[in-house]
Amino acid sequence: MLQKIGRGVTGRYNASAQLLHWLTALVIFTTIPLGWIIAHMGREAPNHHVFIFFHKSFGMLALALIIARLVWRGMRKPPPLPDWTAKWEIGLAHATHVFLYLIFIVMPVTGYIASSASGHAVSFFGLPLPLLPEDKSLAKTANDIHLAGQYLVYFFLFAHLVGIVWHVAFRKDGYLARMLPDQINAQ
Ligand code: HEM
Ligand code: HEM
Repeated sequence: MLQKIGRGVTGRYNASAQLLHWLTALVIFTTIPLGWIIAHMGREAPNHHVFIFFHKSFGMLALALIIARLVWRGMRKPPPLPDWTAKWEIGLAHATHVFLYLIFIVMPVTGYIASSASGHAVSFFGLPLPLLPEDKSLAKTANDIHLAGQYLVYFFLFAHLVGIVWHVAFRKDGYLARMLPDQINAQ
């Protein structure tokens, strides 16, 4: 299968792109459950501030990683897809990737504005970040977008994963291998 995508030549994201991708995935799959926990435990719960602290810190880390990935993408073209990939598959994958980048900028930025403009501290694992001047109405708008935006996060992550399953289970075209190191692909 892998030979078809030009193994190790054009068919695979390079090591830094792969590292950034899997780090982002790890950080995002940590940030989201932390958001669910703080939403369900209530502000009065004794450890609320601890979960908020980590949700905000991991969320800001997600933003830094997404920016790093966009910079990488600006500098290097992603590896070309195999030439038998259908136009609609390329279009769908591309649109999903664009929306993933967008929503993972919108989420941390609205989270930051919601917290900071309502007078709450935002830190990056203890390193205090500059805050916006207090503005309750801006904070409320940002919070509304943050809360509603989570459904777009679920939708696009689901679409991304369905796309991967489609390629792995039905197309069997080595698509997942594009984001995996050579050592794993060699197994
Ligand atoms: C990848 C980035 C992020 C994602 C996917 C995300 C997702 C979520 C989710 C799913 C919730 C629970 C919503 C609910 O049902 O009530 C939440 C709540 C919250 N998030 Fe984020 N978040 C991110 C980044 C941030 C950042 C960077 C901050 C602040 C610096 C932040 C601040 C908050 C706050 C304060 C809440 C509680 C809102 C409330 O209860 O009214 N988030 N987030
Ligand atoms: C278990 C979870 C995940 C799996 C199995 C997975 C798998 C993959 C694979 C195989 C690709 C390569 C697609 C191609 O060849 O064009 C890819 C690309 C991508 N993934 Fe994921 N992914 C996961 C989680 C995530 C998460 C959480 C994000 C959130 C930001 C994400 C965002 C992206 C983006 C934006 C691309 C396109 C990269 C580019 O060309 O710039 N993925 N993913």
